[in-house]
Amino acid sequence: MAPYSDLPTPALVLSLEVLERNLATMATARPGAALRPHVKAHKCTGIARHQVRAGHRSFTCATPLEVVGMARAGVGDDLLLANESVDPRRLAAMAAAERETGVMVTVAVDSNTTVDMAAAAGLRHVLIDVNVGLPRCGCAPDDARSLAERAVAAGLIVRGVMGYEGHLMTVPEADKPGKVEACMSLLVDAFDSLVDVAGEECRIISAGGTGTYHVFGGDDPVMSRINEVQAGSYALMDSSYGAQPLPFEQALYVVGTVISTTAGERSSWAVIDVGLKSLGMDHGNPHIDGASVWFCSDEHTTFSMNDGSLPTIGDRVSVRPAHIDPTIAMHTDIHVVPRWGENVTEVWPVDLRHW
Ligand SMILES: Cc1ncc(COP(=O)(O)O)c(C=O)c1O
Repeated sequence: MAPYSDLPTPALVLSLEVLERNLATMATARPGAALRPHVKAHKCTGIARHQVRAGHRSFTCATPLEVVGMARAGVGDDLLLANESVDPRRLAAMAAAERETGVMVTVAVDSNTTVDMAAAAGLRHVLIDVNVGLPRCGCAPDDARSLAERAVAAGLIVRGVMGYEGHLMTVPEADKPGKVEACMSLLVDAFDSLVDVAGEECRIISAGGTGTYHVFGGDDPVMSRINEVQAGSYALMDSSYGAQPLPFEQALYVVGTVISTTAGERSSWAVIDVGLKSLGMDHGNPHIDGASVWFCSDEHTTFSMNDGSLPTIGDRVSVRPAHIDPTIAMHTDIHVVPRWGENVTEVWPVDLRHW
């Protein structure tokens, strides 16, 4: 295996030690089925296998390919597409994966069309996706019951409801519990409105992410009803979540190589071969420890060291992406090191890319 210093860059490098620590921290807070890890954050069955070892068997997916890939790889036994699909071929591919592997597949539905298409494709299980405040997918809470009725009439099993409060992941900690609870009361009411229609297999109230996993539970009559959390970023982290008081560490960096340096009279800077095409930038600039990032362009990041030093051409630099999910989706492989600074011992393909 290539030592860390020989990797062709830009390259994703993962510390197994940090990954395991993040997984253990989350599994302690939300053991087993209390967490439905979201694979969209890493798109890698190699990482999902470690989440299974940490005690989770149910997973959240964002694309049909993630569902099919997880099922065919035999990772987990209960897969949720927490997203709407109206592509008959992809819906049929998920139904075939369920039939052929025995893994349970559930899809989110939020309209008559998505209910009808799930049934027509041969899928068997759905969650009613409820809009809890993020203007994205999800039906109006008042429509949840009629969608459940339509699903049951179409022969589908309604396993419960989901609602993603994505707009609250980074609100200040002091405001978070109250704001999340207001959203979750919509979800819990929606569940209560349809449970008699859906029958005894209707038990799931699914929500949350890395920024909110810790506010559920306790004695609160609403928050104690959320019985699974869909966090994904916690496994690898990024600089956006890293700025919050969360107990997870950066487990994955994009490693680059210094390709140019300029020692100016008034300022000095260095350039690495990591740019917009290897970093998700929708959450802003990436972070380099001990340095200030000036800007990123297609294949470059320009930065200066805070202590005024200048790296040497050929040096390796570890870049913390601002948003892990789109970063991972740009790469084909994750290079695994047992601990930071050690040589690569394994390469895990990012095998759940695309749709
Ligand atoms: C439906 C859904 N659930 C949960 C999450 C939580 O992910 P994260 O762990 O990144 O907060 C996301 C993220 O976008 C999502 O789209």
